[in-house]
Amino acid sequence: MNPLTRSLDSLQRRGMRRSLQSTTNILGDWWFDRRHGTDTMSRLQQDEIEVDSPHKASAHAYIPTRGRPFRAVLRSLDFPADSVFVDYGSGKGKLLMLATEFRFKRIVGIEYAPELHRIALANIKRLAQPVAARIQPVCADATAYQLADDENVFYFYNPFERDVLELVVERIRESIDRNPRHIWVIYVDPRFSDAFADRLGLEQTRTFTHGGFDVVVLEGGTPAPGGATA
Ligand SMILES: C[S@@+](CC[C@H](N)C(=O)[O-])C[C@H]1O[C@@H](n2cnc3c(N)ncnc32)[C@H](O)[C@@H]1O
Repeated sequence: MNPLTRSLDSLQRRGMRRSLQSTTNILGDWWFDRRHGTDTMSRLQQDEIEVDSPHKASAHAYIPTRGRPFRAVLRSLDFPADSVFVDYGSGKGKLLMLATEFRFKRIVGIEYAPELHRIALANIKRLAQPVAARIQPVCADATAYQLADDENVFYFYNPFERDVLELVVERIRESIDRNPRHIWVIYVDPRFSDAFADRLGLEQTRTFTHGGFDVVVLEGGTPAPGGATA
């Protein structure tokens, strides 16, 4: 669907105020692609993607996060200055590119579909070299990814079902056991947020709704030193 058709469709379904928000978001994303010469907007269903993984049945489609709400959520949070951001299920790498606007020390993206990973690599190359160098795209199943023990901000745009999420949460728990620290989880379309509360003892500290997106922020662990990232 092109931006105009999507906006008209949204107006019919949601009413004026939310449609205006949604239209601004869509135009922002269209402009992002235009400015960078990328195509992050077009979605891909899992049956259109070739992946060799036992977790394919639990995987959700490639749908990019809208840039505007993402920026609004990140601006409202206060992370330590040396924070490391991890996007679980990073798709075409758009969110990794957006995260460079914030003061993260490193930005890690984990995507299991080689085709999407290759697109992400090409997209990231379009950034200036010192900016792109902060991004580490990894082609791996999220359940197999071994965390570096300084990673502390975890982003999930509802990438998979509960079975896979619980395995990922277990990897995070192992990392926190090795190096106790304060962590944040930003979970968009948060269907299984209880997994973070039950297994990591995180507390839900913020909720957002923006242009049809529900977002929860969960956090916990040893006290975080101050210092915003934005
Ligand atoms: C909803 S998209 C989110 C894309 C990106 N994070 C964003 O917010 O713009 C979910 C992504 O998770 C990926 N994914 C699903 N299961 C996965 C798994 N087990 N390991 C790694 N990536 C996975 C999908 O291929 C898809 O690209």
